[in-house]
Amino acid sequence: MRITVIGTGYVGLVSGVCFAELGNRVICVDKMEAKIDQLNRGEVPIYEPGLQPLISANREAGRLSFTTDLRASVEASELVIIAVGTPSLPNGQANLSYIEQAAAEIGQAMNGYKIIVTKSTVPVGTNERIRDMIRQHTEEVFDIASVPEFLREGTAVSDTLNPDRVVIGTDSARAAECLVELHSRLTDHLIVTDIRSAEMIKYASNAFLATKISFINEIANICEKVGADVTKVAYGMGFDKRIGSSFLKAGIGYGGSCFPKDTQALIQIAGQMDYDFKLLKSVVDVNREQRYNVIRKLEGLLGNLAGTTIGIWGLAFKPETDDVRDAPAFEIIAELHKRGAQVQAYDPVAADNFRKEYGSDGIVYCSTAREAAWQADALCILTEWKEFQELEPLEVEGWLKSPYLIDGRNIYEEEQLSGTNIVYYSVGRPGMNSGLKEPAPLLSL
Ligand code: UDX
Repeated sequence: MRITVIGTGYVGLVSGVCFAELGNRVICVDKMEAKIDQLNRGEVPIYEPGLQPLISANREAGRLSFTTDLRASVEASELVIIAVGTPSLPNGQANLSYIEQAAAEIGQAMNGYKIIVTKSTVPVGTNERIRDMIRQHTEEVFDIASVPEFLREGTAVSDTLNPDRVVIGTDSARAAECLVELHSRLTDHLIVTDIRSAEMIKYASNAFLATKISFINEIANICEKVGADVTKVAYGMGFDKRIGSSFLKAGIGYGGSCFPKDTQALIQIAGQMDYDFKLLKSVVDVNREQRYNVIRKLEGLLGNLAGTTIGIWGLAFKPETDDVRDAPAFEIIAELHKRGAQVQAYDPVAADNFRKEYGSDGIVYCSTAREAAWQADALCILTEWKEFQELEPLEVEGWLKSPYLIDGRNIYEEEQLSGTNIVYYSVGRPGMNSGLKEPAPLLSL
């Protein structure tokens, strides 16, 4: 099949490359010339394990190309995939201007029957608007479909090639048949449904996952008070098939390009229909609040943070990515600065992106984990990079001025800390070297 993918962000680039890998001829289009030049030089603009070799192999095989020429690409394809960004507007609503522009340009380039698929996360009803916008520019016959994307950064290639399910929302039997064929090699779980339900599946899935995270984070906060261990609690809960064990890792809250944006957008979508999505609003509040626990724990240990030096390990919103969008590190570092602390930070791959967004005021960007911990008054772990997990806490203790470790991602086990003098505050595990071994009695019987 000849496919054009519009937008070479995470979703567009990875989907395009994976469709080429399946044997299709794929043209990836982007307005940003610099990005297309980079891709044409064989450089990958994002850090995503496994992507570079797939791009090279498929370019060499002549199945994958990159261009800024949307019209020619659309003219040459029977399937057009819209994968442009839908960032948040200040009120939380999804900004659809890139989608609208793409739809208009597709309409102008129509030269025969095509299926227009939207992979970008868009509010319910948007695909129908896309159809109207395309129709304004052409008399040609075409169908639309919503095929939402569920890939995770860091595992994007394997998620795309081995998805849990593929959702195909369309009102056309012809489009359904073609899209089922295109995806049938990827999974047995192909869900063909109506367009609005497909659009809603994406938001509902992300909102549910965000809810799971905020839920376990609140359970962790209670665990700290009652002397229970959240990792054991999550393990025990996870065996119930109705609950499942994934997405129950307590930490400093979710970040990234999807959960924060999509939860806000769904709250807005509901609000526009006069529905107050109270549960999801609380999920968002809990997530914001969770980041401040790092500061509270630091203040509990050091008192006033003015004049202190705090080491930060991890700036990416999660490991295996250089993406810093909505990373908890932004708020935590900003709060440290407000309190007069200096920061020395290290991330294996995301420091440059963080510097571009946050700047360098009050932060020394370090080139090793050791440098960021060196003579710090306390060290905070904000991303669970494997590199940090592999370091010996005893060695880390020797680098610090005071042996205070605030682990926002629960990367160390109790045995690793034994024999050290590290005062260790993790999330929802109060018994671990934290001096909180004896919780207050719960009930006086
Ligand atoms: C997410 C969805 O998983 C994906 O299906 C969707 O299409 C896009 O958004 P991604 O943002 O790449 O993918 O990351 P994910 O691995 O889901 O993690 C999101 C955030 O949740 C991270 O900040 C992570 O640290 C946090 N998280 C995840 C937790 O705090 N605890 C968990 O148990 C799981």
